[in-house]
Amino acid sequence: MGTQTTVVILAAGKGTRMKSTRPKVLSPLCGKSLLGWVLAQAEALDPDRIVLVIGHGGEAVEAEARALLPDRDLRFVVQEPQLGTGHAVQVAAGELEGSERVVVLYGDMALLRAESLQELVEEQIQAGVGSIAMMTACSLDPTGYGRVLRGAEGGFAAIVEERDCTDEQRLVDEVNTGVYCFDGAALRTDLPQLSSENAQSEYYITDLPGMAVEAGRPVITVDLDLEESLGVNTLSQLAEVRWAMQMRILEEHMDAGVLIEDPASTYIDAGVSIGAGTRILPCTVIRSGVVIGTGCEVGPFSHLRVGTQLAPGAEVGNFTECKNAILGAGTKAKHLSYLGDAEVGAGTNIGAGTIFANYDGQAKHLTRVGDGVFVGSGTTIVAPNEVPDGATTGAGAVLTRDSGMAPGEVWVGVPARKMRPSDGTGAN
Ligand code: UD1
Ligand code: CA
Repeated sequence: MGTQTTVVILAAGKGTRMKSTRPKVLSPLCGKSLLGWVLAQAEALDPDRIVLVIGHGGEAVEAEARALLPDRDLRFVVQEPQLGTGHAVQVAAGELEGSERVVVLYGDMALLRAESLQELVEEQIQAGVGSIAMMTACSLDPTGYGRVLRGAEGGFAAIVEERDCTDEQRLVDEVNTGVYCFDGAALRTDLPQLSSENAQSEYYITDLPGMAVEAGRPVITVDLDLEESLGVNTLSQLAEVRWAMQMRILEEHMDAGVLIEDPASTYIDAGVSIGAGTRILPCTVIRSGVVIGTGCEVGPFSHLRVGTQLAPGAEVGNFTECKNAILGAGTKAKHLSYLGDAEVGAGTNIGAGTIFANYDGQAKHLTRVGDGVFVGSGTTIVAPNEVPDGATTGAGAVLTRDSGMAPGEVWVGVPARKMRPSDGTGAN
């Protein structure tokens, strides 16, 4: 995208309507924060600089942004007090010096696609010196949004905030989505001219396009899909946006050959890799970072948490939770089990109700299970531990920590001991 593009993300607002102590932009959404999604949009433009306007919970917001984009030229500007979206850009003015163009994003629009943003920037570049490109959308229910007013010829005239609208203006269904690309020099000239003479006594960024039109400079509007324009102001909007984002993630997997039997009950975060031919059955939750090979089966009712990796053909079934668990090819854990901090080899069967007791109350410990192991139903394996290749545990066995099993041995009982021939018919 060339040089001298600055992206400004407005994230100082309190998010009062979320009724939460957490800054709104840190709300979780399919494995990232709201801010994480917005930073990814900004990053896709490959800008020279990203400026975040912060305020409420600013330290946490800054920490999150730095963790997400450690190599980016990030600038943070504190807006205190918060006198409106135009004021937010005014306080960032020091970071906009020399910028050829400035893209402004609101911190709560997770569904905006990078391609839409790229298109906006291209439109602004084409519109030339002094121009502004902004995104608008047509809404069946424009309540709460700024309305877009057009002149007799249909050209853009101004944005009027809902609280400043006349009854007639309120009927307009074209709304401002809150995404803009400004010519940098013109923005620097216009910013100090903003006035706060409006219903909220705030400095509105939305006055800038109207000012440009009055000065005879081009203002281009670009249609944005309504879904992409959804902002998050309340928890129910967060749920609505989460659902749309979830469908996008699931569709990507389905397009790549992953069978998802019931998208409505399947929760897969961003950043999950799933091989083709794998089947994901209903009521399954898969968190960020999980890697699933080809030809696996997961669910119904499975929970795969951080650090889980399934090799090709592995199967995890109902009421089984995996955390930091690596399962080898063709290994099965089909029922009612907890696999925490585990490395399991290939072709192993984990019986129903197996618990990897990884936590001793202070620290987490690792369990290694080899290839071709048979773990009997209801086995508890206290970590750290190792169940070597070809070993077997009897139903209900409790392996105490560092049990010392050798390959191929059969251990039974509580606490589990190596089975002697006199113990009976054999545990396998
Ligand atoms: C804004 C637009 C409205 C548009 C709508 C789209 C203005 C004046 N109005 O209204 O035309 O239809 O978004 O969703 O811009 N923020 C700051 N500092 C402030 C105020 C806000 O950083 O002083 C940040 C907020 O954290 C938020 C964003 O700016 O991320 C938008 O603010 P918000 O109060 O949600 O604006 P809306 O009333 O929704
Ligand atoms: Ca908003």
